[in-house]
Amino acid sequence: MTVSFAERLIVWQRRHGRHDLPWQVTNPYFVWLSEVMLQQTQVVTVIPYFFRFIERFPDVASLAAASQDDVLAAWSGLGYYSRARNLHRAAQLIMSRFSGAFPSSPVELIELPGVGRSTAAAIATFSFGARAAILDGNVKRVLTRWAGIPGWPGELVVENRLWQLAESLLPPGNVETYTQGLMDLGSLICTRSKPSCGNCPLATDCVALATDQQAVLPTSKSRKTLPERHVVLLMIRYEDQILLERRPPAGIWGGLWSLPETTDTLSAAAICRQRFGIDIEFEPAAADFIHVFTHFRLTIMPLTGWVQHAISVADTQTDWFSLIDAQTLGLPAPVRRLLDLMQ
Ligand code: ADE
Repeated sequence: MTVSFAERLIVWQRRHGRHDLPWQVTNPYFVWLSEVMLQQTQVVTVIPYFFRFIERFPDVASLAAASQDDVLAAWSGLGYYSRARNLHRAAQLIMSRFSGAFPSSPVELIELPGVGRSTAAAIATFSFGARAAILDGNVKRVLTRWAGIPGWPGELVVENRLWQLAESLLPPGNVETYTQGLMDLGSLICTRSKPSCGNCPLATDCVALATDQQAVLPTSKSRKTLPERHVVLLMIRYEDQILLERRPPAGIWGGLWSLPETTDTLSAAAICRQRFGIDIEFEPAAADFIHVFTHFRLTIMPLTGWVQHAISVADTQTDWFSLIDAQTLGLPAPVRRLLDLMQ
């Protein structure tokens, strides 16, 4: 008799999967936080951020009561900051709508900002023993290979097919071990390049392995070249201080502290005269560099200019910070890099 997909995965997880992740067997708040951090970031990167975050905000109540600035500062460096803003809003919703008691069903969890179908299922499974299918990027890779499903998994018809398959493979019990097994297999064995098929419990009936398609499944998105944008970032310096401004809440780097910017190097002085009423001579601060976003490539041209007197700034979204204090703010990764260069 053949052993089912789920049974093989469960046996494999018990012997070879991860059992000592810091959020395993803890509480729904830790599980939720870890799942949101893990949405776009790998386990090794997440672990130190997770510890720092729970030290700063040990429960939903403390997170809900914090300022957005403090939450973004704790998230700083992890990227995809909408995750932090959603987490903060969701904590406030849990306090106001659920009186601080963590919702337990996927149907309620999916209502929280930043929690999609797969994350809701993972939280409900790991925290409350629910029986719900997950389908994150790793799981999509495992399933497209095992079942030999062609087409880009981000495409709706392919994704629907994968959800159906994920639901149909769910075992009657041990869903928690099964779900962790799927995640672990995707990140430890069924890796994007050079999967370790010799150690895979699903190898005996894996379509990709039988047809030698591991390298082409899952199918990649048809490649369109990303649009290019340019920005000049202005490092306006006074003694050991730097002028920073808070970005508007929506759009890239929303709510983070960043450098004043212009579109081209020639207009930098004119912009400063107009905004701050002084003349600043700018010079290149470092070589131009590229930062890649999901939807475009941004070429960053950094300029430095020194002022002799600290310009007084009237609006609350612009302020002077010492280079040391600036490190504690929520900063976009390229801005942090530039400030590090000046230390
Ligand atoms: N990726 C997303 N959730 C995860 C988890 N709980 N364990 C390991 N990898 C994950």
